Amino acid sequence: MAGIYIHIPFCKTKCHYCDFYKTTDFGAKTDFVSALKQEIEWRKNELQQEEIASIYFGGGTPSVLKIEEISSILHHLSNCFSVADDVEITLEANPDDLTPEFLEGVKNTPVNRLSIGTQSFHDADLKSMNRRHNSQQALASIQAARDAGIQNISIDLIYGLPNQTLADWKDNVLKAVALDVQHISAYHLTYHEGTVFYEYLKTGKIKELPDELSFDQFKLLLSELKKAGFEQYEISNFARNQRYSRHNKAYWERKKYLGFGPSAHSFDHKSRRWNVSSLRKYLQAIDEKGPFWETEVLSAQDQYNDYMITSLRTKWGISLNYLQTNFASKYVSHFQDEAEKYLESKHLYLEDGIYRLSDEGLFISDKIMEELFYME
Ligand SMILES: C[S@@+](CC[C@H](N)C(=O)[O-])C[C@H]1O[C@@H](n2cnc3c(N)ncnc32)[C@H](O)[C@@H]1O
Ligand code: SF4
Repeated sequence: MAGIYIHIPFCKTKCHYCDFYKTTDFGAKTDFVSALKQEIEWRKNELQQEEIASIYFGGGTPSVLKIEEISSILHHLSNCFSVADDVEITLEANPDDLTPEFLEGVKNTPVNRLSIGTQSFHDADLKSMNRRHNSQQALASIQAARDAGIQNISIDLIYGLPNQTLADWKDNVLKAVALDVQHISAYHLTYHEGTVFYEYLKTGKIKELPDELSFDQFKLLLSELKKAGFEQYEISNFARNQRYSRHNKAYWERKKYLGFGPSAHSFDHKSRRWNVSSLRKYLQAIDEKGPFWETEVLSAQDQYNDYMITSLRTKWGISLNYLQTNFASKYVSHFQDEAEKYLESKHLYLEDGIYRLSDEGLFISDKIMEELFYME
């Protein structure tokens, strides 16, 4: 079983926190769809008949595609790959694109999961992030998706925003819970170099939230979602009734995936590949049949480090047995030595040979992973 990721590199405007590859120039949108299909065609033998269990349209903003474009990309994929009958097909969508006409169109494609970029239900937050929608549209888009008969809906929220109080965040979480969606992704704000928020932070126009408040927001998220019947299956991901994102879960289980479009990544157990993060260079290279990607062959150390990042973040954790079966003893002893202090501080706990993060550990997972890494 493998996955397919499609990167749609267009956004009508840019949000102040976002460093995903995108352009606001839609001039080459039609050429992009043709180039994407060409890339798919060229790479159709890379998965050697492995069945496709998930397809994910990410971005950028996949909801700026026309319904015919979504359908024709999916049709092309099913001609080139062996797509499972029960494939999960997710489309990331911005609330302001979710008109009744668009949703009706989506219903008539094989897309069966929507991931809606709600981010917040507060106008002040949305404005500060430079989102295109307001709180009323955030709520209405989710209702409209449900009214259109889309059963599997996920929403994205961001917390740790400048000036966001615990009460503001609680209100957001409660609104999300009341919406009766199956899945919530809640990300702590990251300040990425090159974004407007990063500049504002550097010049003192905004301030990072104090760690204690961020942690309180995280704890509130965990407790409210648990009360509402959500299971936390990854640091930022919560599902009801095991409606996990099959696509993202497969990343964390290190299943193979192919990524198409500018900046998309691919993984085949032995190597990683990433496409150029430039629509212009991508289109030019497809036109000239030239390379538009770089690859890296993964060493044993890379594979061990990958196992750390992908497993520790999930509720399935790090298996000692898996480590011992798949990695040389120097990696296993490094892991056990480094994990020891976090077991003592209760950031990690060990149960039946599986190491998992506690709630305190989940909040500082980046630091813990860094220390578990093996660096020669
Ligand atoms: C590819 S992005 C956006 C998809 C879609 N274009 C949208 O904006 O709704 C996926 C999600 O990542 C999250 N995200 C992006 N940048 C982030 C950042 N710097 N900090 C926290 N979350 C971020 C947002 O919640 C966003 O919805
Ligand atoms: S968050 Fe979404 S809409 Fe905003 S810039 Fe990033 S990809 Fe585009």
